[in-house]
Amino acid sequence: MSAHEMETTVKALTAPGKGILAADESTGTIEKRFKGVDAPCTEDTRREYREMLFTTPGLGEFISGVILFEETLGQKNAAGVPLPQLLAEQGIIPGIKVDKGTVALPGFPGEKVTQGLDGLAERLVEYKKSGARFAKWRAMLAIGAGIPSLQGIAANAEALARYAAICQEQGLVPIVEPEVLMDGDHAIETCARVTEEVLHTVFHALHRHRVVLEFMLLKPNMVLPGLACPRQATPEAVAEATLACLRRTVPAAVPGIHFLSGGQQDEIATANLNAMNTRLGNTPWQLSFSYARALQAPALKAWRGVAANKSAGQQALYKRARLNGAASRGQYTVIMEQN
Ligand code: 13P
Repeated sequence: MSAHEMETTVKALTAPGKGILAADESTGTIEKRFKGVDAPCTEDTRREYREMLFTTPGLGEFISGVILFEETLGQKNAAGVPLPQLLAEQGIIPGIKVDKGTVALPGFPGEKVTQGLDGLAERLVEYKKSGARFAKWRAMLAIGAGIPSLQGIAANAEALARYAAICQEQGLVPIVEPEVLMDGDHAIETCARVTEEVLHTVFHALHRHRVVLEFMLLKPNMVLPGLACPRQATPEAVAEATLACLRRTVPAAVPGIHFLSGGQQDEIATANLNAMNTRLGNTPWQLSFSYARALQAPALKAWRGVAANKSAGQQALYKRARLNGAASRGQYTVIMEQN
């Protein structure tokens, strides 16, 4: 393991006022997103869209790293420049999603476990040659009647910890992403209870697998009511519940916590992050964002698969990156949405 290498990566990724852009949708997921704006989904249109995002002028002011899907890591622009290099030219670190998605957890109806550990070390060697300096693995935990079970949580935590240890052995910084999903009508208190249990279990597994906490980042969900819950929460309530949960579970040695957006509307995801950063108190970690949908939604809508909309798409992405950058400093106000 190369500690110096990972230290440099962590430091750059947690630079104040910056966050991470998740652009690592699998082919199936990006197809769904493209369908939403009537854009055709081909290898070319995916490259065109992501090239538009990555060449947004000034993106590096607010984005420290971008998580890529494997396909993108190998793609080049018309001039033959690899897409990861376009990011590096903006001072942005390329990362890579390395999990292979989820499968049903046998014996536990409704629960899933993330796969992709076999051959991971070998894949990382190749990803590193293509410019990746950090990685991401996402575990998905749904809330429902009797789920997630303790075994469902433990199986996912074990895989996350094994992944993180393998990344560090290869000198890549692991982003550890245990996502408690928003689907359902559960109350914020239920999400708090489940998230606390999940994070406890994940950090216990990380400890057992000798993962160096200083060289990893956590990408959790915020503590939120279910999407269909009639009692929605203010940014202040979300911030209180999320910070309480993180204080109880995340060691101070972890340098940064970069939230996923998870289906929150983009302006709400920004307001919630801001509320957390205005209430930090003596919290030891950098609190920022690693959004996919909440950063990309307006850019995708502006682009719609039309090359002539490139600049409009870039402006939309730049705006969300700028506002989330402000939120990561606790300096966002709703008025800023107007310009
Ligand atoms: P969302 O911000 O759209 O939830 O995506 C984040 C992510 O990387 C999911 O793995």
